[in-house]
Amino acid sequence: MTRHLLFALSSMALLAASGEQFRPTFHFSPAKNWTNDPNGAVYYRGEYHLFYQYNPFGDVWGHMSWGHAVSKDLLHWNHLPVALAEENGAMIFSGSVVVDPNTSGFCIASPDCLIAIYTAHTPAFQTQHIAVSNDLGRTWKKYAANPVIDLGMKDFRDPKVFRHADKWVMVVAIPLEQKVRFFASTDLKKWDALSDFGPQGAINGAWECPDLFPLPFFGGSGNSKWVLSVNVNPGAPAGGSGNQYFIGEFDGKNFRNSNSADVKLWADWGKDFYASTSFSDVPRKDGRRIWIAWFSNWLYAREEPTTPFRGIMTIPRTLSLRQTKDGLRLAQTPVAELSKLRRRKIEMHGVTIAQANRRLDRFASKAYELQTDLSNASLLLRVGPEGEQTLVGFESDNLFMDRTHSGNVGFNKEFPGIHRAPCLPRNVRVLVDSSSVEIFAGNGEVVMSDRIFPGLRSTGLQFKGVPSARISFTLWILAGK
Ligand code: FRU
Repeated sequence: MTRHLLFALSSMALLAASGEQFRPTFHFSPAKNWTNDPNGAVYYRGEYHLFYQYNPFGDVWGHMSWGHAVSKDLLHWNHLPVALAEENGAMIFSGSVVVDPNTSGFCIASPDCLIAIYTAHTPAFQTQHIAVSNDLGRTWKKYAANPVIDLGMKDFRDPKVFRHADKWVMVVAIPLEQKVRFFASTDLKKWDALSDFGPQGAINGAWECPDLFPLPFFGGSGNSKWVLSVNVNPGAPAGGSGNQYFIGEFDGKNFRNSNSADVKLWADWGKDFYASTSFSDVPRKDGRRIWIAWFSNWLYAREEPTTPFRGIMTIPRTLSLRQTKDGLRLAQTPVAELSKLRRRKIEMHGVTIAQANRRLDRFASKAYELQTDLSNASLLLRVGPEGEQTLVGFESDNLFMDRTHSGNVGFNKEFPGIHRAPCLPRNVRVLVDSSSVEIFAGNGEVVMSDRIFPGLRSTGLQFKGVPSARISFTLWILAGK
């Protein structure tokens, strides 16, 4: 064996042992330790800020604080120190950040500043608190007169605040009653209750991390509706945690569901999409509604086989509403910035599966984007020498992803499985990263996100089907950090 080969093999073994092999190349991950929900997503003075539920002291849930990172393109993140830390036995649970044009009176020497609105958690109570930053989010001061809302409740959390007409509106979860409550404020300090929504839709789990925003119909008709997103745990279609949403009207006081109360709409049919939150204050000229979610599931998050970090975020996605044969649906597409990561391209049109597979025989990558049509074929992703593979395809009118043989699936019995989504369009856009697969079908109206933990040598890609069947595909290797 040459020295070079020996070196390559031993560094592979080291990488495998370190768990770093699963560190994503184009998804957010904390440098080390545990994360769950994304928090406080906001755009301010040229930077996207991502805060996130973070344990500064370990790689399982605990000591919840807000980790912090900034990015200019939603893909390359610079890690910053913890923004809000657990203090006096109160953990910092999920919440949001807004750009305040000094309605609070807290902005010093500048016409605006950042205000964080979050849940302070103690074993007995959850209350809503605020904190201010006057230095581009780098340091934060908790408001001396916190809490700003205290209902004396044990479960009352995850405030999301947005500007509506001339006031602030907060949507916050009352998880165990399957309700969200709306509040209004003029100064972010004094809040008045407006109304409740729920229980409706999926009500078998706790309601957490709500969000509410207007969303235009795709195609520029000028029409729009309000989307109320409510994460629910458990009760999602793939099991455990997931995101449901309601489409309706919001008049500044009440949300009215346009569908009947028993209609359940799911944003993502995979098992790993939870606690989604949309970016606040994205420039008006841009006009995008972008959201991001925790790429995991409470069923097994604490056992995911990665180290020294545990927990990553999904690709940020641009949202729109699209008319489908079943009615209006949320559509998601990876943010346009992703195309800047495209490097080497492989493209084949109207070839047989046999020809495509010969071309892909020596393909080896852990980070790529693939666009294809799965009418005549299924996809085998992250194929390895020991039979590892993640299978993606259609079965009657269902899109499915089978991760039962995807690699390390034994860390929790809830992890292996086949996930399905009703789906008529057969064209898919697939994002593969070191430990994840995201599928956007049609125009993004059906999405499926799943983590996978394949071996280091499982980097192959093949089409599966009748060898003479015809397919087309375009594939780009995506650049790493
Ligand atoms: C959702 C959640 C939130 C809570 C946070 C605590 O995943 O349970 O409701 O604020 O995580 O880390």
